[in-house]
Amino acid sequence: MKPLVLCVFGTRPEAVKMAPVVKALQQAPDLTVKVCVTAQHRQMLDQVLDLFGIVPEHDLDLMQPGQTLAELTSRVLTQLTPVLQAEKPALVLVHGDTSTTFSASLAAFYQQIPVGHVEAGLRTDDMYNPFPEEMNRRLTTQLSSLHFAPTPMSVANLKEDGVSEGIFLTGNTVIDALLETAAKITPEPQGGRTILVTAHRRENWGEPLRDICLAVRDLVERNPDVRAVFPVHLNPLVQNTAREILGDLDRVSLIAPLDYAPFVKAMKEATLILTDSGGVQEEGPSLGKPVLVMRTTTERPEAVSAGTVRLVGVKREDIFRHAQELLDDAEAYGRMANAVNPYGDGQAAKRHVEAIRYFLGLRGDKPMDQFEPEPSPASR
Ligand code: UD1
Ligand code: UDP
Repeated sequence: MKPLVLCVFGTRPEAVKMAPVVKALQQAPDLTVKVCVTAQHRQMLDQVLDLFGIVPEHDLDLMQPGQTLAELTSRVLTQLTPVLQAEKPALVLVHGDTSTTFSASLAAFYQQIPVGHVEAGLRTDDMYNPFPEEMNRRLTTQLSSLHFAPTPMSVANLKEDGVSEGIFLTGNTVIDALLETAAKITPEPQGGRTILVTAHRRENWGEPLRDICLAVRDLVERNPDVRAVFPVHLNPLVQNTAREILGDLDRVSLIAPLDYAPFVKAMKEATLILTDSGGVQEEGPSLGKPVLVMRTTTERPEAVSAGTVRLVGVKREDIFRHAQELLDDAEAYGRMANAVNPYGDGQAAKRHVEAIRYFLGLRGDKPMDQFEPEPSPASR
């Protein structure tokens, strides 16, 4: 009988980044793959499943409006357990750093099923930032037997945490998803300059999110040829703040979250991206778009080193100043607008499959194909 790999995920970014792995596992003749979505997100998850043609075998459908961390974490644990008991997978695959990730890993551990962690080894070394993601990924590392590290830095972080076995340097699967999607998209000419904005992080709720919105307001008011496109996360807290501060401006489009393909098109059409998202700060560099990250820490320093991402904090004046500099200074803009790929080469999913086949005894030799990041422009 072919061993079963059960992929468990629940939010939009997990779905984008797991889709290439699910697809690649489906191609492996000696494996069976099934998908269980927790549906920690509902609409924002379903659009990704539709785009990539993934039909889950199990859907826990557990999103509640305004869900708390404790409720969510405990619902995943109790509702996933019967699925694990019925399916008895040889391996559970989780992704990243959400409540689904941590809770699904714990549920698998309780059933003594090995866990493979996709996008392992990202660290800020600040347990409250991002919150609760930094702790989710640390705890998931402890619960995992296989660690798919996207970059050499994440390999080093895992080793520093004492992980000595089961690390594979794969590249980030987000680049697989992005390159496949971006290849089918032609950007349309924009009449003016566009700033694409996303913001949702829990540690930015309240004052920082207000500052982010006020900085966008300042940028649009100061620059008559600039418009902002802000697909607003469905979290009511984020929706309310964005509407209150930006709802009355003609050149700010507050829109519903975009499906993945239209969002990739929006990234391609943007002059500049302002975001607190993890995934977007990985995608922007591949598209040659300057990204200003509105956070105080990042677990993704590779693109900052490559010069295409800047960490600008969450103060209104800082966000405004950095963005205005890029709008005013063509040279500064040109220095940042380089297409670099520190996160992946589009081949990450295949490497996951080979590592899994090795782990499950379906190939004898350890796979040697590893991700090699491109040199950054500074070192070329
Ligand atoms: C979650 C993850 C975060 C990830 C983010 C990606 C945790 C603790 N947080 O944060 O790591 O970066 O997803 O977007 O795991 N909602 C809807 N429809 C949707 C999605 C969300 O209505 O499709 C609303 C609901 O009211 C829900 C709320 O948003 O209760 C918050 O969703 P939740 O998954 O708890 O937190 P996020 O802020 O989305
Ligand atoms: N994304 C999308 N539509 C949007 C905004 C983002 O499809 O309106 C995609 C984006 O390209 C990236 C992922 O969603 O692949 C990032 O999700 P999010 O910012 O919600 O989560 P994070 O990466 O911060 O965990």
